[in-house]
Amino acid sequence: MDDERNMTNEKSIIKTRNLNLFYENFHALIDITMEIPEQNITAIIGPSGCGKSTLLRVFNRMNDVIEGVRMEGEVDIDGQNILDPAVDMVALRKKVGMVFQRPNPFPLSIFDNITFGLEIHRLTQKKNFEVIVEHFLEQVLLWDDLKDKLHKSALSLSLEQQQRLCIARALTLNPEIILMDEPCSALDPIATMRIEELMQELKKEYSIVIVTHNMQQAARASDYTGYLYLGRLIEFGVTSQIFTAPREKLTENYISGRFG
Ligand SMILES: Nc1ncnc2c1ncn2[C@@H]1O[C@H](COP(=O)(O)OP(=O)(O)O)[C@@H](O)[C@H]1O
Ligand SMILES: [Mg+2]
Repeated sequence: MDDERNMTNEKSIIKTRNLNLFYENFHALIDITMEIPEQNITAIIGPSGCGKSTLLRVFNRMNDVIEGVRMEGEVDIDGQNILDPAVDMVALRKKVGMVFQRPNPFPLSIFDNITFGLEIHRLTQKKNFEVIVEHFLEQVLLWDDLKDKLHKSALSLSLEQQQRLCIARALTLNPEIILMDEPCSALDPIATMRIEELMQELKKEYSIVIVTHNMQQAARASDYTGYLYLGRLIEFGVTSQIFTAPREKLTENYISGRFG
């Protein structure tokens, strides 16, 4: 079934078509057809357990490591169906970066966290590392604070700084898409606002998909919102429309706080 209502007028970067995902016999994502617009922030909202993280993990095939997962349908990124078994996973994961709920810097120095992926993928010569570290720390607005302690452990940073560092680490691989799964849930409200401001900067260059169960965050920080409920995409649209004039009763119930 095609759902024209889930389409936007923007150029899309991810298109799913009749996407279904099963964990063994459990049908976790049901017939999801949607288009995620390029260089925008798209929020996926919905109550706990509705499939938000599962959907996000489809986009860089992180679910593949879970035994018993089966997917049907199509997920196109840049015109390639990434569910195709022949897809180049290393290239896919470079193109589609991920930031997690709890900041997970490597137990290495700040400097080495930034250069880790570059070294693995042999993207740059070592002599360029200093310039690159400065560039990416600038991009996440950490450079001024950290330039004198680049060789300190990343684990000594505040949680907000750790999360910024993890975002910078994802950026080093030159992704097109950044997936963020509840990236502020370990942060206080001020740090949360500052990460949201950073997302506004990043969307000039990247397409961002953020999962959040914080409706205020989705309303503040995203351009488009998709509401998932029990594995189905109930509604997708411009964020202001979803929050002020939802088309579906189920969306209205959720955003007016009747459950979730
Ligand atoms: N590895 C797994 N194996 C089996 N079921 C899972 C697994 N991961 C998630 N699920 C189930 O899939 C559903 C969606 O989970 P999830 O995507 O984590 O939801 P959300 O992120 O919205 O809280 C839940 O019912 C959850 O119990
Ligand atoms: Mg989740």
